[in-house]
Amino acid sequence: MKTLVIGSGGREHVLCWSLASSPDIERLYCAPGNAGIAAAAECVAFDVMDFDGILAFCAENSIGFAVIGPEAPLVGGLADRLEAAGIAAFGPSAGAARLEGSKGFMKDLCARAGVPTAGYGRFTSLDAAERFIQSRGAPLVIKADGLAAGKGVIIAETVEQAAAAARAMFAGQFGAAGSEVVVEEFLPGEEASYLALVDGENILPLETAQDHKAVGEGDSGPNTGGMGAYSPAPVMTPELCEMARGDIVAPLVRAMAADGAPFKGVFYAGLMISDGAPKLLEVNVRFGDPECQAILPRLKSDLFTALRAARDGRLSEIELEWHDQAALCVVMASKGYPGAYEKGSVIRGIEAAERETGATVFHAGTSLAGAEVTATGGRVLGVTALGDDIASAQAKAYQAVARIDWPGGFYRRDIGWRAVKG
Ligand code: AMP
Ligand code: GLY
Repeated sequence: MKTLVIGSGGREHVLCWSLASSPDIERLYCAPGNAGIAAAAECVAFDVMDFDGILAFCAENSIGFAVIGPEAPLVGGLADRLEAAGIAAFGPSAGAARLEGSKGFMKDLCARAGVPTAGYGRFTSLDAAERFIQSRGAPLVIKADGLAAGKGVIIAETVEQAAAAARAMFAGQFGAAGSEVVVEEFLPGEEASYLALVDGENILPLETAQDHKAVGEGDSGPNTGGMGAYSPAPVMTPELCEMARGDIVAPLVRAMAADGAPFKGVFYAGLMISDGAPKLLEVNVRFGDPECQAILPRLKSDLFTALRAARDGRLSEIELEWHDQAALCVVMASKGYPGAYEKGSVIRGIEAAERETGATVFHAGTSLAGAEVTATGGRVLGVTALGDDIASAQAKAYQAVARIDWPGGFYRRDIGWRAVKG
């Protein structure tokens, strides 16, 4: 079957890399892709929000299946448009993607479905938000309601910081995403990412992962889309996985189906583990990035078969097999990220890194300028290695990182520290 992956990040590179080995894919395209994806799929230059262009391409090229990577086209309704045109799409409808597209919607659904999460208030005016902040006291977490590429969340240590964050959001710091603001109780603990394929009803968990959201070592500095990840996440014991499935994902999947917006796709539960139980921090409606760069290289089963089954409502027929090895991904980002950064710097040594260490370098924000790979994004490369345990995957990933010659980039040197320290 001819298949199209939509997106241009590290997530879409690992998706294409994994799908490329499927015997059922006759031809693989990616829109728009990047310099690394071009080795696994034919890149076609459509923006992910150019729904008309993507639909026309699918019709002209007899695309039978589309895999939508990022959240913005999902929240915008690309899966609905493709399905209406007769093209099977992996990813939730716009109605189901509201779980990520509106944090307030997600919190209200948790309250209704009895899902453990932080206490919260939803606000459309600064006055009301400030009153709530004063009455609750710090620490608090202030969140823009809509999509903000992982950056619309401020942890406030004081009431003054919380009020300033709310003020900045209502003043347009995150554009329309901040016209509504959610104020949450601060939850202490250790985070983990729990991802599952969902077909509207059935839940098929993937292997666990842990992300590193903060830009700096020791988890310091502002949040990013994710600076590195590893899988499995030892904090997610089998008991905690069962709680995440039964107490968090299942009630929300049932509630969405009962509300007429059944969830199909990847259900990503961002969890905070404290006192031996998980609480839901966020829902993402797609593969986490960089988490999937650590999870998918461990998958033995055919990814295409699993994604098709999720789309078709047949997940109960599928069992996934995994490699025992652990995987760890180090993100290399442009200097300045998550703030302003320069584009166009040249990256060398990627092939040597892969050849000499056996690691895989997934591209997240690259282009080709002649024969040179250049950096065109904030997060630029995801250097991923497999190892017998997380410590060995970590050592191999950093060996590969050391081979990459990119003066315009930086990376965290401590990816995996929680799992390796003991
Ligand atoms: P979110 O996009 O909602 O997951 O928030 C991004 C990051 O902010 C999370 O990965 C956590 O590190 C942190 N965070 C969000 N909500 C809370 C909370 N209620 N308590 C503590 N940390 C939080
Ligand atoms: N790594 C976090 C995310 O994909 O949202």
